[in-house]
Amino acid sequence: MSALNDRVKTSSGFYVTKEAPIATDNPIPTPSVPAPDILRCAYMELVVTDLAASREFYVDVLGLTVTEEDENAIYLRSLEEFIHHNLVLRKGPVAAVAAFSYRVRTPEDLDRAVAFYTELGCRVERRAEGFTKGIGDSVRVEDPLGFPYEFFYDVEHVERLAWRYDLYTPGALVRLDHFNQVTPDVPRATKFMQDLGFRVTEDIQDEEGTVYAAWMRRKPTVHDTAMTGGNGPRMHHVAFSTHEKHNILAICDKLGALRLSDRIERGPGRHGVSNAFYLYLLDPDGHRVEIYTQDYYTGDPDNPVVTWDVHDNQRRDWWGNPVVPSWYTEASLVLDLDGNPREVITRTEDSELAVTIGADGFSYTREGDEEKGFKLGNTL
Ligand SMILES: [Fe+2]
Repeated sequence: MSALNDRVKTSSGFYVTKEAPIATDNPIPTPSVPAPDILRCAYMELVVTDLAASREFYVDVLGLTVTEEDENAIYLRSLEEFIHHNLVLRKGPVAAVAAFSYRVRTPEDLDRAVAFYTELGCRVERRAEGFTKGIGDSVRVEDPLGFPYEFFYDVEHVERLAWRYDLYTPGALVRLDHFNQVTPDVPRATKFMQDLGFRVTEDIQDEEGTVYAAWMRRKPTVHDTAMTGGNGPRMHHVAFSTHEKHNILAICDKLGALRLSDRIERGPGRHGVSNAFYLYLLDPDGHRVEIYTQDYYTGDPDNPVVTWDVHDNQRRDWWGNPVVPSWYTEASLVLDLDGNPREVITRTEDSELAVTIGADGFSYTREGDEEKGFKLGNTL
């Protein structure tokens, strides 16, 4: 019996289980000490090569709020945020990600983060004054998957602008929602993230049990980060939320009006995974930004885990629209704690692009309907 057929198939076409349906034969050891209690993804530090061009994109086009800025960096936040920033744009020579930053529940969780990663033999650096403006005592690590992760509790509070409707634009970004990371071995990465306290909400697999991507959360949404199978470590995207679908359409209209439609890489559309409405944009350095809204609540301890068949043509786009190949292949470099780009390791397992797009790939709309419910390769 196949891996997928062991599961309960729903009337919507995907499968559900009670436990995370992912196992690895190449695990990172589970530390003996407790993991830090992570609240949520909080901000990303992005290195950009042209600060003025990036400011135009993130502030003038997308409408993020400037908390603070100088000649080297811009600190931005969304309208509902009360911490100093959700995004740092820092000027540098190579476009890359300097930190995926998470807020933890208590100051003592920073001690736990140090112990957790130290036991794993990771490089760990702690700065009482923080690594960026607005953030206090912080821990940065080079995690076992090669990603620069940060943890902090102490942060400068700024005004939550949620009630300032005079500041809202038709495409207003209201929250940071999630990160998405590219890694060669998704089961290995997922098991590590479970040790770090994350819970899997959804994943994509094939009948042989190859895992192409997994979504995992701390806050009670579909995810705080996802692991996408591919050459890595790299950053696939950072996602901001709008309140409603029409806000995403307004961003598309604005980009068209500004003759910036080439910044739209994929969408707008409805995801199968996460059920959210989405749009993918590329910033002036090619960093991918997702605009995202209306996923679902996942906070119960027995939240059902959703598994999608990689050949289900509605998993990435519920309307069956094609995924552009660049979305599978392009991603941002990540930096080590010295600011040098990490070496990118090639994925050896099947790629989702290869098995679903192109001459050898296939996807179905209705499983078993081989006459009309089946799309072959590049007809997608
Ligand atoms: Fe996403």
